[in-house]
Amino acid sequence: MSENHSETHPVCSAVVGLQWGDEGKGKVVDLLAATHDVVARYNGGANAGHSVVVQGQRFSLHLIPSGILYPSKLAVIGNGVVLDPDKLGQELDGLRARGVDTSGLIVSDRAHVVMPYHKAEDAAREDSLKSAREEAQAGSVSEIGTTRRGIGPAYAEKVQRAGAVRVGDLLRPESLKEKIGVAVATRRTSGLKLDPATLDEAKLLEWAIGAGELIRPMVQDTAYLLNNLVRAGKRILFESANGTLLDVDHGTYPFVTGSSCAIAGIGTGTGVPVQRVGRVVGVMKAYSTRVGAGPLPTELAGPGEAGAIGDRIRNRGREFGTTTGRPRRVGWLDLVAVRYSVMVNGITSIALTMLDVLAGMETVRVCTGYRVGGKVTDRFLPDAVSLGRAEPVYENLPGFADEIGAARIRRELPDRARAYVEFIESRVGVPVEIVSVGPDREQTITS
Ligand code: IMP
Repeated sequence: MSENHSETHPVCSAVVGLQWGDEGKGKVVDLLAATHDVVARYNGGANAGHSVVVQGQRFSLHLIPSGILYPSKLAVIGNGVVLDPDKLGQELDGLRARGVDTSGLIVSDRAHVVMPYHKAEDAAREDSLKSAREEAQAGSVSEIGTTRRGIGPAYAEKVQRAGAVRVGDLLRPESLKEKIGVAVATRRTSGLKLDPATLDEAKLLEWAIGAGELIRPMVQDTAYLLNNLVRAGKRILFESANGTLLDVDHGTYPFVTGSSCAIAGIGTGTGVPVQRVGRVVGVMKAYSTRVGAGPLPTELAGPGEAGAIGDRIRNRGREFGTTTGRPRRVGWLDLVAVRYSVMVNGITSIALTMLDVLAGMETVRVCTGYRVGGKVTDRFLPDAVSLGRAEPVYENLPGFADEIGAARIRRELPDRARAYVEFIESRVGVPVEIVSVGPDREQTITS
């Protein structure tokens, strides 16, 4: 039997979104990072947007793990991330200009690179899907509503393999030239209309070599690094990007992102086995939001009362995308969806965010089932066609009038706000460990 504590006892934690992204993971990662040694990102790319407010200063991070804001911690970008070197450079410059020490950032040599043609391709595909929708007018074809950050094309190239560029390749100009040549040649024959400037091989090579020089000091084999740290008893906090319902396998396909956002992505996206993760914190908002296309059964939209409630929540919650600035679609809390996400992630506790946004409403509605073809089910339907046909079945709860941003322990919440939290706990079957009642670090209830 091994004497090594970490071989038998999980020392790592994970933070994962239980809805369609934007659940407030940045704040929760920031809170939990205090008791961990390393924060590691395992999926996604610059499509994510994590906002953290530290001492009144708001930081918006897309690619760099939020752990970077703690000077003594390592912040690791794992192999499962698709890395846009331009965005990385901008984010590093922005952090350094505000006095943040970025020396703890480490990048996997096996992370795939988002190349300029991936971004061009993402936009061209979206544009052609949009035209197809407008021509068909049948609603069966639609653009995904991506962030146009090249995420899908970069992951597609990873799976296609031949022309894919990984961070390690950026440091080897000979093989880099060959790979770029393959990637450009396949695009020239693809039929997608891309700006020819994005397919200039000499310029691409020069850009990629420059990107390599930027990243070189941070590059490591992060699978060995992270596993050695675990063996040494260090605690890793895995930070998920996007949300479980955007997971390429478990989300509302095809209106999903290109990566494994649920915790199974930790194994593939870092090389650390998931059984090292003992604590899995699921982050959920007190209502639902979604950016881009795809079903949102509880959506509050339209010219009537529903739309007005949706507008109120959007404005109070500042529900505009951190990455693209798009207004987010808003809906009532969908517990069918949350229960499903809790199941596929093995969630051990919940962080409930944005509860303060619901203050001032007479009634709040919570979806606890779907009506499909005349029958009520409590099963989520992780497929866009089926979910698009589901009609929400609601339970109405009394709203809470008072502003709750000053509450610091659960007992300080008004009775009806506390009842809302308890309703979630009882229906989901997992304790709510953290309640966030405002954007600041201090506006958090943990007991
Ligand atoms: P992509 O990740 O840019 O390919 O976009 C695919 C879908 O995921 C679109 O509906 C995006 O709006 C959505 N999406 C991607 N990342 C996030 C996120 O961090 N928060 C919310 N939605 C996201």
